[in-house]
Amino acid sequence: MSCIRSEIIGWGHYLPKKVLTNDDLSKMVDTNDEWISTRTGIKSRHISEGETTADMSIKAADAALKQAELTIKDIDVIIVGTLTPDNTTPATAAKIGGIMGVNPGTPTFDIAAACSGFVYALTMADNMIRLGQVKTALVIGAETLSKIVDWTDRNTCVLFGDGAGAVVLKAREGEGTSADTGILATKLYSDGTQYNNLYVSGGVSTTATAGFVVMNGKEVFKFAVGSLSEAAENVMNQCGVNAEQIDWLLPHQANIRIIEGVGHKLGLPDEKVIVTVDHHGNTSAASIPLALSESLEAGKIKKGDLVVLSAMGAGFTWGGVLVRI
Ligand SMILES: CC(C)(COP(=O)(O)OP(=O)(O)OC[C@H]1O[C@@H](n2cnc3c(N)ncnc32)[C@H](O)[C@@H]1OP(=O)(O)O)[C@@H](O)C(=O)NCCC(=O)NCCS
Repeated sequence: MSCIRSEIIGWGHYLPKKVLTNDDLSKMVDTNDEWISTRTGIKSRHISEGETTADMSIKAADAALKQAELTIKDIDVIIVGTLTPDNTTPATAAKIGGIMGVNPGTPTFDIAAACSGFVYALTMADNMIRLGQVKTALVIGAETLSKIVDWTDRNTCVLFGDGAGAVVLKAREGEGTSADTGILATKLYSDGTQYNNLYVSGGVSTTATAGFVVMNGKEVFKFAVGSLSEAAENVMNQCGVNAEQIDWLLPHQANIRIIEGVGHKLGLPDEKVIVTVDHHGNTSAASIPLALSESLEAGKIKKGDLVVLSAMGAGFTWGGVLVRI
């Protein structure tokens, strides 16, 4: 039965110039490349020097619009997944729309779902497109995590990085089968009882400060493998797709051991798993669109490939998207 699909017709990403290596970090806190590499798979991350979440988002969005051969005037909604907005209010999406010159009246909003922010944002955009409310969407995941990392805490400061990724979605008629291009299935979850295992210690109504990342690493690790696998399996099952039919698993890039654990749980060979955590670190809501855009640009992920996106983060939140490029 024919249906409306949200097709990814453009993608782009932006990483700030400054690269912070594990050796650089070993001069700042009591750590070393060997510990960070073996526990996390991270070798380096990019750090913003004055560029805000909106600044980086605009660079990623410009690239995505160029790829899509559209302008900002063609965009019907802007949704940004971020936990590091430029201001408490308005939404970073509104600021981005204002600077880029989106048509007046176009809806713009941010999604607060931490590292699952992009998957949540993509799902909301897909829902709006399938309902016929919009025909095009600019969906961004962007973070300036360096601003909320305690650079004296070796437990957390080695893990995170900055950056932005964006995609342009466009409504397209599909056949209603898993052979369609575009988003084929989505699934979102959360469990607020896990609130204390991963959070940022500030907030408007509590401390009136931005705060710093606080994490119970072992609990996050345990939950991550199961939830990332659950989300991926759910969207594959919705479409009756098995592991052999998947071209790429693109999980949230937090830790190589989590990524490998999810790949093994799903029965996917390492060659089918996208890894960028080594040179991006954990960029929260930016991690999936950064990895997606980089892999598409490099020709690794190709037109027609079936990709399962899977994210997990503070809340806890988690979710999956099955998409044929
Ligand atoms: C954080 C994480 C890498 C820690 O790895 P781990 O294997 O659990 O580490 P362990 O608990 O075995 O080891 C911790 C020890 O290393 C030390 N340590 C912590 N960070 C260190 C660092 N950067 N360098 C050197 N030593 C460090 C700790 O102080 C602790 O020492 P102690 O045993 O003397 O107290 C891991 O738990 C993890 O990746 N968790 C998930 C984090 C995540 O993905 N968060 C975001 C999700 S969106």
